[in-house]
Amino acid sequence: GAPVEVDIGNLEVGQMMTVEWRGKPVWIINRSKTMLETLPELNKDMADPKSDKDMQPEYCKNETRSIKPEYMVVVGICTHLGCSPSAKFKHGPADGMAADWLGGFLCPCHGSHFDFAGRVFKSQPAPTNLEVPPHMYLTDTRILIG
Ligand code: FES
Repeated sequence: GAPVEVDIGNLEVGQMMTVEWRGKPVWIINRSKTMLETLPELNKDMADPKSDKDMQPEYCKNETRSIKPEYMVVVGICTHLGCSPSAKFKHGPADGMAADWLGGFLCPCHGSHFDFAGRVFKSQPAPTNLEVPPHMYLTDTRILIG
């Protein structure tokens, strides 16, 4: 499949956009400071907090699983059986989530939970973190995926 060029210039802080790449949804979030602050807090709850499994390019094997901390770029397909998780942005009880839920993604099929870096929580059906696709910044506001 061809690489996809995405303009993220209008993506406001805390917002998410979805683009298609190779027939798959790719989510891009302009992560807020709060979202970024939750990531280290969640390390202890994660199945693979340091992204040791090969689910991201080498240049995204870091705390935020990204090139720039503020921008999350992940394939929005559950690593269990391929459903598409839903974003749950709220802190606290949102759509039946636990009271201390810090936000992330919930897969509707078998309930796998992911954080705002696409990392899977412990003891979930999904065996790995969500995939980070190969990508690069063409400019500050343009990303090339693929
Ligand atoms: Fe997502 Fe099973 S497909 S939890």
